[in-house]
Amino acid sequence: MKPQTTPNKFGGPASRETRLQIVQPIKSIDELASFCKRRGFVFPGSELYGGLSGFWDYGPLGVELKNKIKADWWKKFVQDRDDVVGIDGAIVNNPNIWIASGHVGSFADVLVDCKRCGVKHRADVLINDVLGIPADSMAIEQMKEIIEKNNIRCPACKKGELTEPRRFNLLFKTHVGAVEGEKSTAYLRGETCQTIFVNFKNVLDTARMKLPFGIAQAGKAFRNEIAPRDFLFRSREFEQMELEFFVHPQKLNDCPEFEKIAKKKVLVLTASEQVKKSQKVTEMTFGELAEKVYVKSKWHAYWLFQHYNWFLELGISPENLRLREHTKDELSHYAVATFDIEYNFPFGWKELGGQADRGQFDLTQHAKFSKKDLSCFDEETKQRFIPYVAAEPSQGVDRAFLALLTEAYTVDGDRIVLKLKPKLAPVQVAVFPLLRNDAKLLKFAQGVHKGIKEKFITHYEESGNIGKSYRRQDEIGTPACITVDFDSLKGKDVTVRDRDTMKQKRVKVKELIEYLEKILQSK
Ligand code: GAP
Repeated sequence: MKPQTTPNKFGGPASRETRLQIVQPIKSIDELASFCKRRGFVFPGSELYGGLSGFWDYGPLGVELKNKIKADWWKKFVQDRDDVVGIDGAIVNNPNIWIASGHVGSFADVLVDCKRCGVKHRADVLINDVLGIPADSMAIEQMKEIIEKNNIRCPACKKGELTEPRRFNLLFKTHVGAVEGEKSTAYLRGETCQTIFVNFKNVLDTARMKLPFGIAQAGKAFRNEIAPRDFLFRSREFEQMELEFFVHPQKLNDCPEFEKIAKKKVLVLTASEQVKKSQKVTEMTFGELAEKVYVKSKWHAYWLFQHYNWFLELGISPENLRLREHTKDELSHYAVATFDIEYNFPFGWKELGGQADRGQFDLTQHAKFSKKDLSCFDEETKQRFIPYVAAEPSQGVDRAFLALLTEAYTVDGDRIVLKLKPKLAPVQVAVFPLLRNDAKLLKFAQGVHKGIKEKFITHYEESGNIGKSYRRQDEIGTPACITVDFDSLKGKDVTVRDRDTMKQKRVKVKELIEYLEKILQSK
């Protein structure tokens, strides 16, 4: 049965709230977390020893999905482009990198402690949870006033008075070498992009790149978050995929492909609406984002589109995505302008990825602190200049993983179906012999499996219960299942079942690869 849908205000498909009741009953993020554990996508970190809050281990299916997300991003943002190259920097860095970047001084969240039970809470999260007021961009004094005025108590012990809000630095410290002390202190990287900035000159000198060009990196980042929560959404160890796009500061609008994306539409929550305490979302084009100076450059609008469109291509519905402009108060210390790409998670609209215009902040800081020249030479004007980072597409791998699973998780009657795009599915084709104790049948099925194994990511199983095997494959998102039965031995054909329609078709073994390719491309 086709699910009923109520059109949204733009005439598009129904909102998540409407669809949730019909085909996507993820009631909470906890439901997704337990599904992920049950099916081997993600396990709580250090579980055997009681766990460690904010750390997660990816299981056999999770690592496949995660690697595919990373590979797809790398292909689209690096390999398919002539103007981007990649690096893979170290995780532990010289502390001066993080002093110059401003993270040692300003990379902090506001925290309150319970005077009774000692539990620490992130003040903005607490205010939002208790009073429903968004507080991410609130000044520390305002948080103090609100907590006192509303007599907010510790939500853990329900009684304790809270301390005054104070800043808490999120960088993880470690020690390098045998002796611990001030001199051996180093930091685990809090964002991947800093190793891009400190290698800017190395890349420029070796990769023969000319401005405008980008440097990308994907890898681990660490933040000692006060309140890790919502499963993978906010953890202490996570992965980022980041790209810094460097342009000449006088050529911020020289974006040759801008016209191609200028008419594409997106939902936007502007800073001015948020300042008015309104949550009014406007549909606008990426052209309007640049023309009405929400973003400072055409390059920024261009990269916002690439980032947003990557999610559409991976199967996220446009109704579940929007851009949110950062208000002035909330901008990070390095940012000229920032837009988050928000996703409609089961716990509300939250940041999925982000994109700042970082201006000349980082290269200027690193040049100053390292006392090295990080400028470029302009052949036309014969002057030196510091390149400008017009856009920084920054995407958390784990948040992309979470959004893609949320979007794909579907309950269809009595079956759970993970409607992942075939290119992301951990298994693309599963092969089952009808019975597990018939040598001839097994040999034939193994031959069928061998014949398709090089073309697709496959799973072969002699379970003997086809119904159960289909259900299991539906739950992990396998787009096609093949059953080999006794007729196969005579007719040299098999049954192919489609994950989404459950339709079955008899297909000759010699035409199998072509047929499977068709199914996979149809989704
Ligand atoms: N270099 C810019 C930067 O790091 P950010 O907004 O702090 O900006 C970028 O982080 C992205 O990294 C976020 O949009 C999110 O996808 C991911 N991210 C940040 N903190 C995270 C956390 N604690 N857990 C999981 N993902 C996180």
